[in-house]
Amino acid sequence: MRHRTEEEIATANAVDVSALPDPQTDDQRVIAGPSGELERQWLVVIGICTHLGCVPLSYKGEYDGYFCPCHGSVYDTSGRIRKGPAPLNLEVPPYAFLSDTRIKIG
Ligand code: FES
Repeated sequence: MRHRTEEEIATANAVDVSALPDPQTDDQRVIAGPSGELERQWLVVIGICTHLGCVPLSYKGEYDGYFCPCHGSVYDTSGRIRKGPAPLNLEVPPYAFLSDTRIKIG
């Protein structure tokens, strides 16, 4: 889980989604909280590279998102694959906000 800054969210939303290997908007990768508003500051992804299953490093890589050193896959601040051999975005698991301060993952 990553608590994103406004800048990270803005960067994720400035992307031309049609140019992505696995096109998804940032809003499709977050969910609404108790207020009913999308909780864009919380990114919940499974930290397993979609190439061959290594563990990407956070806050690394060209997009300051995630970088997998095994074969060079680069993910952005939304966990979307941007470069390298990984075919898909980092998976967003099922999760839900139980309150303003609690998230249930899985
Ligand atoms: S396992 Fe991540 S790039 Fe190959």
